[in-house]
Amino acid sequence: MRVTPLIAVAGFLAQHVIAWGTVGHATVAYIASGLMKPETADYCKSVLGDNSSDFIGAIASWADSYRYEPGGGFSSVFHYIDAIDNPPYSCDVDFERDCTEEGCIVSAIMNYTDIQRTQHEPMSLKWIVHFLGDIHQPLHDENYGAGGNNISVLVDGEKWNLHAAWDTAFITKMTGGKDLATAKTFSEMLLTRIKGHGVYAAQARKWFRGSLKDTKAAAMGWATETNDLVCSHVLPQGPIAIEGKELNGTYYQEAVPVLEEQMAKAGWRLAAWLDLIATGSTPLGGAPCKGPKKA
Ligand SMILES: *[C@@H]1O[C@H](CO)[C@@H](O)[C@H](O)[C@H]1NC(C)=O
Ligand SMILES: *[C@@H]1O[C@H](CO)[C@@H](O)[C@H](O)[C@H]1NC(C)=O
Ligand SMILES: *[C@@H]1O[C@H](CO)[C@@H](O)[C@H](O)[C@H]1NC(C)=O
Ligand SMILES: *[C@@H]1O[C@H](CO)[C@@H](O)[C@H](O)[C@H]1NC(C)=O
Ligand SMILES: [Zn+2]
Repeated sequence: MRVTPLIAVAGFLAQHVIAWGTVGHATVAYIASGLMKPETADYCKSVLGDNSSDFIGAIASWADSYRYEPGGGFSSVFHYIDAIDNPPYSCDVDFERDCTEEGCIVSAIMNYTDIQRTQHEPMSLKWIVHFLGDIHQPLHDENYGAGGNNISVLVDGEKWNLHAAWDTAFITKMTGGKDLATAKTFSEMLLTRIKGHGVYAAQARKWFRGSLKDTKAAAMGWATETNDLVCSHVLPQGPIAIEGKELNGTYYQEAVPVLEEQMAKAGWRLAAWLDLIATGSTPLGGAPCKGPKKA
């Protein structure tokens, strides 16, 4: 057991940690709306009171403004889990160690999923859409350097912190835009990789294995898998290797496929999760494991 060295960072985190920018969150939401069952889409439209095709794209970033509103501050800690691991040498998430008493993204997903299943209300639905996005951004599952907020880097000569580079700068660079229309177009490209014979199609069928009977296991699985990327792609050679450096070369090129796959996965899992909440079953859960072949 390690004693947490970062009590002092808590206030810093509350103020500075943001989330996937608008395009990241909306891309995840549009992918989910392209994969969910029609009944699930009807359920979300009715809960949100929005029958347009942007029904979840439009609310995907709501939680990032709500947290700064009067009375919304309690939800700041719900956007991440500060895994106290040791990148790049070892990465892991431990619920007991890393989820604080005020909560974390894992407990928030558990909480709002329970609320949604019983109360069918718009606020918890908006939180679910947002947090299933955030949990797939590696630096939302990492304590080091306040989730990368204290590591400064350059992207095309502009100053960013590492957290915001992954949330926003890289995604703007990849997509060329900052609005919902950009996210819609980008999500359509990623959906072609997921569907039919797309490059993600085979692996996508294994992306969702959860159940609402154990929401903690599902959310911890996503957090743990995403946190591994901190060791492999976010801080592969430690923070010193990137502090103050221009990341638009190899680092960015290696981040792009990770970001694309994370957004695709998050969209798939969000669709499956909402299917379960709205209808009790999902076709996105993959085929059940086959038993051994008969001799
Ligand atoms: C959305 O469509 C449903 C079914 O057609 C309708 O009952 C509902 O009033 C519509 N909601 C809004 C906000 O337009
Ligand atoms: C669950 O959500 C409610 C409503 O936002 C909130 O008041 C409560 O603190 C949350 N509980 C946990 C354990 O996150
Ligand atoms: C960032 O935080 C880490 C610990 O998480 C600390 O070791 C490091 O010195 C900090 N860097 C800066 C520039 O504050
Ligand atoms: C990276 O950014 C620098 C400015 O810091 C710029 O001169 C260079 O052309 C960029 N390289 C690429 C590959 O975009
Ligand atoms: Zn967020």
